Amino acid sequence: MEALLCKKLGDPAALTSLDERNLDSPIELSKNHPIPELNSPTAVRIRVKATSLNYANYLQILGKYQEKPPLPFIPGSDYSGTVDAIGSSVSKFKVGDPVCSFVALGSFAQFIVQDESQLYPVPAGCDLVAAAALPVAFGTSHVALVHRAKLTSSQVLLVLGAAGGVGLAAVQIGKVFGATVIAVVRGPEKVQLLKSLGVDHVVDLRNENVTESVKGFLKARRLKGVDILYDPVGGKLTKETMKLLNWGAQILVIGFASGDIPVIPANIALVKNWTVHGLYWGSYNIHSPAVLRESLRELLFWMSRGLIKVFVSHIYSLAESNLAFVTIKERKAVGKVVIAFTDQGSGRSKL
Ligand SMILES: NC(=O)c1ccc[n+]([C@@H]2O[C@H](COP(=O)([O-])OP(=O)(O)OC[C@H]3O[C@@H](n4cnc5c(N)ncnc54)[C@H](OP(=O)(O)O)[C@@H]3O)[C@@H](O)[C@H]2O)c1
Repeated sequence: MEALLCKKLGDPAALTSLDERNLDSPIELSKNHPIPELNSPTAVRIRVKATSLNYANYLQILGKYQEKPPLPFIPGSDYSGTVDAIGSSVSKFKVGDPVCSFVALGSFAQFIVQDESQLYPVPAGCDLVAAAALPVAFGTSHVALVHRAKLTSSQVLLVLGAAGGVGLAAVQIGKVFGATVIAVVRGPEKVQLLKSLGVDHVVDLRNENVTESVKGFLKARRLKGVDILYDPVGGKLTKETMKLLNWGAQILVIGFASGDIPVIPANIALVKNWTVHGLYWGSYNIHSPAVLRESLRELLFWMSRGLIKVFVSHIYSLAESNLAFVTIKERKAVGKVVIAFTDQGSGRSKL
C-alpha cells in the first residue's frame, strides 16, 4: 500500500517534490508499505478514502509538537473510508460501511486498522471526504465550546484564526447555539466566507485593528464585551483580545498557530473572575472517552442535517503531501486541507 513515512524531523513544506533520491527529506512516499493485518477479533481494517491535515501533523514532523513519536512514523490523525475487512467478533460494522475516526498516528496511508469501538458510522448522504476532516477540527471546538465553556445563545464568542480548521468549526458551532459570533481572520477570501456563514462581525487583520473593530461592533450592538475567547493562535492577538473580555469571561486555550505562547496574567484573571480552560482534545480519548464519543456522534448528526459544513479548500494526493503542508504553512487554507485516495491510489485532484 501507499503510506507517507516521516523518517527524520524537518520541514515537509520546504520540499519541491517527494523525490525518493532526496536523502535529506523528512517525509517519503512508500509505495510498498505492508497492509496492516487485523490484530484482534474486534479489529476493523479500513480502506482510507481521505485524511485531513491538521496543524499538529505539521508540528509533529517539524519536531515541535507535544507528542514526539519515535522515528520512523506514519503521520496523520483523522480520516474516513470504507470497511475493508472485519475480525471474527465485530458486530457493529460490515465490509463496505462508510466510517470515520481518528488515530494518534498513521492515517496518511491507504489502509488502517482500528478497534470497532473507535469507529463512527458516516451517516447516509454525507460526503466521505468532508467526514475525514470533521473529527479533530469540529471535535476540538465542540468539546471546548459545549462541554467546557457551556456556550449559550446569550453569549458573545470571539474566534481567532476563524477560517482555519478549528476556527471555522468554532464559528459554526457558535451559530448553531445562536451566540453572537465575532471572527478574526486575514484576507478578503476568508472574510467573504465568514460573512456568508452569518457571522455577526468579521475583523480582517490586513486592514483593521482588532480591538478598535470589535469595540465598534460591541458598541453598535449595545453589548458590554466578549464572554468566550476561542484561541488557536496565541501571541500578540491573545494579548490584544484579552482587553475585550467581560467580567466572568472564559478563555479557551486551543493552540499557538502564531508560534508564540501567550501570557495570561493571573492577577487580571483574579480581578475579572476569568476562567482559563486548557484543552487538549486527543487526551479526552484516554481520560474521558464518553465525552469525546458523544460529541462526535452529535457532530455527525449535525452534519447529516446540514447544520454544520466541513469546508475543504484544497485536496491533494499522498504524493503531493509536501504541497499540502505548504498550504497550511502559508495560511492559504480556508477550512481544511485534505489528502484523498482514488480507488487506484492517491487522487490527484486539487480544488
Ligand atoms: N488543543 C487541541 O486539542 C487542538 C486540536 C486541534 C488543533 N489545535 C491547535 O490549534 C491551532 C490551529 O490548528 P488548525 O488545524 O485549525 O490550523 P489551521 O487550519 O492552519 O488554522 C490556523 C489559523 O491560524 C491563523 N494564524 C495566525 N497566525 C498564524 C501563523 N503565524 N501561522 C499559521 N497560521 C496562523 C491563520 O489564520 P489567518 O491567516 O486568517 O490569520 C490560520 O487560518 C494549532 O496550533 C493546532 O495545534 C489544538
